[in-house]
Amino acid sequence: MRLLFIGDIVGSVGRKALKTCLPKLRSKYNPHWIVVNGENAAAGRGITAAITREFFEQGVQAITMGNHTWDQKDIFEFIDDEPRLVRPANFPAGTPGNGMTFVKARDKELAIINLQGRTFLPPLDCPFAKADELVEAARKRTPYIFVDFHAEATSEKLAMGWHLDGRVSAVVGTHTHVQTHDQRILPQGTAYLTDVGMVGPRDGILGMEREAVMYKFKTSLPARFVVDEGTWHFHAVCIDFNPETGLGQKMQLIRLEEEDLLFE
Ligand SMILES: [Fe+2]
Ligand SMILES: [Fe+2]
Repeated sequence: MRLLFIGDIVGSVGRKALKTCLPKLRSKYNPHWIVVNGENAAAGRGITAAITREFFEQGVQAITMGNHTWDQKDIFEFIDDEPRLVRPANFPAGTPGNGMTFVKARDKELAIINLQGRTFLPPLDCPFAKADELVEAARKRTPYIFVDFHAEATSEKLAMGWHLDGRVSAVVGTHTHVQTHDQRILPQGTAYLTDVGMVGPRDGILGMEREAVMYKFKTSLPARFVVDEGTWHFHAVCIDFNPETGLGQKMQLIRLEEEDLLFE
């Protein structure tokens, strides 16, 4: 079984990149499941009902989120009615939405869990304890379990990979918007990647217009960040799962640029 996981889609440029790349990637990789991180899909901040629909119409089966989950007000109107939209599971008890969902393909179910790190990010419930709780529940239903760990620190992401090794199919990081090259199958069989990278403007800084970001770094004064409008780049990972055990078998990093659409 094969999962295509696509990193943080940033703004309209990112959504355009997804529309261009997804049909090509579907025919090249033939994934059974397609999951995207949508926390930056609406002008870099959060997601709307319309964008959620747009992703599902393109064949995306589930959307994971992150620290920008609540940035668009209208999410509160639909998150409780849309189980395929998954927000970090370790938000405080009583928070709207869900931290885990299940999607079917070929009679097999994939559990999708979203967790958020606590290093250089706002304090939340323990993602490791929450992972234990959800993985135990998911394993009663399916051996195919995918974790999007939305976190800043590479060390915290590696710790989650090792924490869940052998208990889930894959742990892939999001949030930094920069793809890492450390994909591997851990000793007990979990596929691991520190960060899948982003989909959106290539020449901004993490998708935002770089002038404002540079101004803030140089002056320490407040600056308004807006999504850059330029040419895009696209990052994803294709993960194969062992059909007997559900564990990770193979990972292929995907990196495309608008200018040269070169496929690996
Ligand atoms: Fe992001
Ligand atoms: Fe984030």
